[in-house]
Amino acid sequence: MESLIGLVNRIQRACTALGDYGGGDQAFSSLWDALPSVAVVGGQSSGKSSVLESIVGRDFLPRGSGIVTRRPLVLQLHKTEEGQHEYAEFGHMQRRRFTDFALVRKEISDETERITGKTKQISPVPIHLSIYSPNVVNLTLIDLPGLTKVAVEGQSESIVQDIENMVRSYVEKPNCIILAISPANQDIATSDAIKLAKEVDPTGERTFGVLTKLDLMDKGTNALDVLEGRSYRLQHPWVGIVNRSQADINKNVDMVIARRKEREYFSTSPDYGHLASKMGSEYLAKLLSRHLESVIRAKIPSITSLINKSIDELESEMDHLGRPIAVDAGAQLYTILELCRAFDRIFKEHLEGGRPGGDR
Ligand code: GDP
Ligand code: NA
Ligand code: MG
Repeated sequence: MESLIGLVNRIQRACTALGDYGGGDQAFSSLWDALPSVAVVGGQSSGKSSVLESIVGRDFLPRGSGIVTRRPLVLQLHKTEEGQHEYAEFGHMQRRRFTDFALVRKEISDETERITGKTKQISPVPIHLSIYSPNVVNLTLIDLPGLTKVAVEGQSESIVQDIENMVRSYVEKPNCIILAISPANQDIATSDAIKLAKEVDPTGERTFGVLTKLDLMDKGTNALDVLEGRSYRLQHPWVGIVNRSQADINKNVDMVIARRKEREYFSTSPDYGHLASKMGSEYLAKLLSRHLESVIRAKIPSITSLINKSIDELESEMDHLGRPIAVDAGAQLYTILELCRAFDRIFKEHLEGGRPGGDR
């Protein structure tokens, strides 16, 4: 049986495609909102893009100091069969398969600039990117511009509020899982990520606290109070991370080596050794994937009813369109309708399979 997260990824892609077509997307936008995804939130340069890259296990995001991420990036990870080639595909150029991830990074920058220009401005229009690989877990992740406190040269005064509003529009949705990134070399009480997460998710049930830059803490200090939940308690355990430093990036230290160094950092650390099996980006990826799977399972009934609504809407739209409509648009609608019917069937199988006495 296809994985639940894989299925949801396909619905999300179908919704995006239908959004582009521009018709009948009312039920689809509520369907999109009903599907869980993971948004990465934090202050500028807290390490958001780096954490995303570590989860994927690939270099492909523009990173660095200052405002680099200027449009939301909706990243869908699809786990493929062992031995398959890894590739990436953009929503805005679906016919091209990228196998060189340096070119993926360049296209993200170029596509950002197509809307915002070579400025420090932001845009809420998301970039959609899918990665197909045997080495990823099934997840949908959203990279967002970093929260800031002041506008810099070349930015309008409203930018601080604009960024916060954009980030909030993602994290306030009850189905958004919040990956709240805070750097360990700053006081957690000043964390922009925790401040916002606390507002939109006061009970902490959909917030995962991630502490980056553990390697940059002052000598003689450690982050155990945060990592062990004494500073700020969340329902899920905090995960500590060591990403590549800017010097590592400049030296092109590759991801495999970076992950190994991160594992070594925790396993040999006098402070964190006892937590080593629950730290690091690989652990975070598994934790998120498991969580997402259980959230989706719990939501199957409501997703199914939305899908049925979408099927009804699409069927009446198909009736309306009849024959003479542009072949492309009609075909796209038809494909999505077929997809929805398949989802309805497979979701039912999952529900039945999930019951005690079911044949799983
Ligand atoms: P973003 O603005 O939140 O997306 O942050 P980036 O991922 O672009 O990272 C900002 C800078 O911090 C980059 O130069 C990264 O190399 C560096 N950085 C991020 N995480 C870590 C970490 O865990 N340790 C160290 N030493 N540097 C990090
Ligand atoms: Na940055
Ligand atoms: Mg970034």
